[in-house]
Amino acid sequence: MKELLELFKKNKAWVKERLEVDKNYFKNLSKEQIPKFLWIGCSDARVPANQIVALEPGELFVHRNVANLFPNTDINSLSVLEYAVDILKIEHVIVCGHFGCSGVKAAMEDHHLGLVDNWLRNIRDIYSKNQIELDNIEDINKRYDRLVELNVFQQVMNICHTTIVQAVWQKKQKLSIHGWVYDIKSGLLKDLNCCYSNSKQIDEIYKINLKK
Ligand code: CO
Repeated sequence: MKELLELFKKNKAWVKERLEVDKNYFKNLSKEQIPKFLWIGCSDARVPANQIVALEPGELFVHRNVANLFPNTDINSLSVLEYAVDILKIEHVIVCGHFGCSGVKAAMEDHHLGLVDNWLRNIRDIYSKNQIELDNIEDINKRYDRLVELNVFQQVMNICHTTIVQAVWQKKQKLSIHGWVYDIKSGLLKDLNCCYSNSKQIDEIYKINLKK
C-alpha cells in the first residue's frame, strides 16, 4: 500500500504545482479537449507520449499498446481512430515506434510469453513479408532496428487502408498519417518520411469507394 499512497502524494503535489501557475488550470481543462494529434505508440514505460513531444494535457490524443500495433480488425484501435478524426477532427495521426522495443524483439525469437505471442504475430507477418531484406542484415541489432521501422510502416498503411481514413479523404477533410521512431538512447525522434495524406498514395487493391 505504501507505494500506492506515494502516488496519491505525488498527485497532490502535482495539482498544487499546477494551481500555483494557473488557479483555473483544471477548471479550463475540464471544459473540453482540443488535441491536434493522435499518437499511436508502444505501452513501454520509457516512451511517454506527451513528454517526448512536450505537449500538455489536452493537447495529445493517445492510444498505446504493446509494440504500437494497429491490427485491421482491432475494435479498440479502430474506435480510437474514428473518434479522433470524426469527432475531434484531428488532422495528424502519428504512429511512433521505438528502438529497443521488446515486443518487436520477441517477434524475432521463439520464446513463449503468453497471450501476447498472438498479438505479436502481426510483427512476425511483417518479418515474413520482408524476409529477404531482413535476413540480409547480418548485424542482429540493425536487423532489429529495421524491423521496428518496418513495423511502423505497416501500421501506417493499416491506418490508411481503413474505411475511416478513406472516408475522411473522400470528403476532402484534411488528414495525414505519419510514421516516426523514438530513440530511447538519445531521446530523439526519427521521421521515417512516410506521410500519407490522400488516397492516391495507397495501393489500388485497398481502395474502397465509400460514395457507392
Ligand atoms: Co515497445
